[in-house]
Amino acid sequence: MITFEVIEANGAIREVQANEGETLLQATLNAGIDGFAAECGGCCVCATCHCYIDDEDLDKMSAPASDEAQMLDFTATERRPSSRLACQIKLSSEHIGIKVHLPERQY
Ligand code: FES
Repeated sequence: MITFEVIEANGAIREVQANEGETLLQATLNAGIDGFAAECGGCCVCATCHCYIDDEDLDKMSAPASDEAQMLDFTATERRPSSRLACQIKLSSEHIGIKVHLPERQY
């Protein structure tokens, strides 16, 4: 079991539990947390599952693949070095305890 925190745009902190191999997007949606539109259903072609990985957790993340890196140019809110697409992050034990910040909007 992997536990991580989602910090909503309003500052609310939610704890999420996920199984290894689930995506960050799936786990967050399964927890009933709003904040991702995920229009393409996780196919890396919409950029509406944008999130920011906490700066302190960036070293736990592998670099985005080229298709994710390209799609990050189309996020509705500012792209930062910590920007990621939640559908492209497969959770593993390395991600235990990470903090994920949701942007104000996805459009
Ligand atoms: S759900 Fe569309 S890019 Fe992630």
